[in-house]
Amino acid sequence: MVSTQNNHAGGGLTVHLDTIHHGYRLDGAFRPVLDALDLRIEAGEFVALLGPSGCGKSTLLRLIAGLEEPVSGWIRADGHPVRGPGPDRILMFQDPTLYPWRTVFQNVALAQDITGKHDAAAVDAAIRLVGLDGFRDAWPHQLSGGMAQRVALARALINQPRLLLLDEPLGKLDALTRLTLQTELMNLWKKRGFTAVMVTHDVDEALFLATRVITLGGAGSSVVLSDIAIDEKQPRDRDSPRMIDLRRRILEQLGFPPLT
Ligand SMILES: Nc1ncnc2c1ncn2[C@@H]1O[C@H](COP(=O)(O)OP(=O)(O)OP(=O)(O)O)[C@@H](O)[C@H]1O
Ligand SMILES: [Mg+2]
Repeated sequence: MVSTQNNHAGGGLTVHLDTIHHGYRLDGAFRPVLDALDLRIEAGEFVALLGPSGCGKSTLLRLIAGLEEPVSGWIRADGHPVRGPGPDRILMFQDPTLYPWRTVFQNVALAQDITGKHDAAAVDAAIRLVGLDGFRDAWPHQLSGGMAQRVALARALINQPRLLLLDEPLGKLDALTRLTLQTELMNLWKKRGFTAVMVTHDVDEALFLATRVITLGGAGSSVVLSDIAIDEKQPRDRDSPRMIDLRRRILEQLGFPPLT
């Protein structure tokens, strides 16, 4: 098992993918995407998913979120079959998708509709958690990209999910905002104890945040190519010899061998 520095690992969900086959019908033909994928993610892990464009990373997150059903195979969350979406498994996209006619408070509060439990104090707490105390009544057009993404994070965390699925959540942000939000995401994960599965194209981001880095890929349909435990203490030195070595190994897995 992978060690984590997460103090609240009991709060996270365990996810088990068992022989997942998935694909889509396109122009009358079935195109496979995932091929007999087996994966076990333990409670409280922070898994980074890397792989070439189109290899099935977003598809895999949608399957775990219960937004799609696999063609065959099983997905279990804490041992129970996943049969649809649920408030304990939240998927967060690259785009914050805030409603422009709602304030920050109203956008975050909207997520409580799923559970039917409306609690203004919890909304304020979530807004504080992501560092937007002074922006409770701001409109989305008054926010920077990084702030909008923080609102999306508050909205994702309001129902105390036990599994946070992140699809390139920082992909559209500038490099500096991205580094700041990486640290904030790491702190939230430590504080809240959820299990995290994050798709990213950024190897350094994966190495900074994750307790485990998985690469997907292959000819035709995708399989797990590598599964590497990152047991370095956090916060990590991005330029330590160990990190440089891990970066080289992962890039190699992704088809970028070192220049000789
Ligand atoms: N609803 C759909 N109908 C048909 N094909 C789909 C559908 N969703 C995804 N696909 C196909 O499945 C494959 C995997 O798509 P997916 O979005 O999971 O890739 P990805 O790894 O997330 O790529 P990227 O890094 O570009 O986001 C692609 O070939 C895509 O065309
Ligand atoms: Mg994708």
